[in-house]
Amino acid sequence: MIVTTDQLFKIAYGRYAVGAYNINNLEQATGLFRGNIESQAPFIIQISRGARKYTDKRFLEAIIRAAEDVFPEAIFAVHLDHGTEEACYDCIDSGFYSSVMIDASHESFEDNIAITKRVVERAHARGVSVEAELGMLGGVEEDIVGSVCLTKPEEAEEFVAQSGCDSLAVAIGTSHGAYKFTAEPGKKMGLHFDVIEDIQKRLPGYPMVMHGSSSVPKDEVDRINAAGGKMKDTSGVPEEDFLPAARMGVCKVNIDTDGRLVWTRVHREFFRDQPEKFDLRDPGKVYMAEYAKMIAHKNEKLGSAGQLDDVRAKLG
Ligand code: G3H
Ligand code: 13P
Ligand code: ZN
Repeated sequence: MIVTTDQLFKIAYGRYAVGAYNINNLEQATGLFRGNIESQAPFIIQISRGARKYTDKRFLEAIIRAAEDVFPEAIFAVHLDHGTEEACYDCIDSGFYSSVMIDASHESFEDNIAITKRVVERAHARGVSVEAELGMLGGVEEDIVGSVCLTKPEEAEEFVAQSGCDSLAVAIGTSHGAYKFTAEPGKKMGLHFDVIEDIQKRLPGYPMVMHGSSSVPKDEVDRINAAGGKMKDTSGVPEEDFLPAARMGVCKVNIDTDGRLVWTRVHREFFRDQPEKFDLRDPGKVYMAEYAKMIAHKNEKLGSAGQLDDVRAKLG
C-alpha cells in the first residue's frame, strides 16, 4: 500500500526513523520489498533523477506498481530524491509520488525559500508533500569544509516558516557516496547531534531528514577489494547513531551507497568464484537475497523493524 510520507513521519516521530532507499532496477526493487517484509518495516522508495533517466522512468514506476501487487503487505511511500523544480513538477503532476525533494540548497537562502515555496504550493494542491534542504552536505561541495556547511538552526526555523516545506534535509556532518568525511581523511567526524538537538528545540515535532547515511561497512569494502576491487580506505555513518538521531526528530534516513556496495561485492565474488558462469539471473538471485538482508539489518538499526502492524493500525 502506498501511503503519504507525512503519514509515516507522524507515526515514527521521536521513536524510530524510516529507511529511505534508492532503487534503480528490478533486482533492487525486489530485494527492497523482500527485506522490508522480512523485517516488518514501513519504508520509503527513493527515485533519483539519475534513476529516472537510467532506462525510462516509466519502467521504474511500473516495477513499483507491480511490487505493490506482489507484496500486498508492504506499506511504503514513493519519493523523488534531489529534485530540480522541473523534476518536482513532473512527479507532482504524475499523481504517482507521495513526496518530492526540491534541492535548492546551492542557491542563496532567499532563493532557496522562493523556489521551495513555489514547489510547496503546487505539491500541496495535489496532496504531495515536500522535502527541502538547507545547508550543504560535506563531500558534495568539496571546497566547503567544516562547520560552514552545517545547517544553522535559527535559519532552519525561518526557512520552514517561510517556505512551508513539510520536512527538512539538514546538513549535520554527513556526505554522499562511499568517501565520507573527506574534510579530515582518516578521521571520523560523526554526526553533529548539537545541531539536530537545537533544530528540534526550535521546531518541535517537525521531521528532519538525514542524507548521506550509508555506513560504508569495512568488511564490505574489504570483500570488494579481495575480489579485485580497488576501493580506498573509508568509513561512513555509524549505525548506532541512527536511533539517537531518530529520537531527536530525524524521521527519514537516506541510504543508497551501502546498497551499491552489496551489488559490487556480490558480482565481484560471484564471477571470481564461478568464472564459467554467464547467466545474469544467477548473480541476480544472490544479489536480491543479499540486498534484502542488508535492508532488514538497516531497519533493525533504524528501529523501523517490527513496526508494520502498529503502522497499519494507526493508518486505520
Ligand atoms: O544522493 C544521491 C543518491 O545517492 C542518488 O544517486 O543520482 O547517482 O542516482 P544518483
Ligand atoms: P549515501 O550515499 O550515504 O547512501 O546517501 C544517499 C542519499 O543521501 C540519497 O539522497
Ligand atoms: Zn541525498
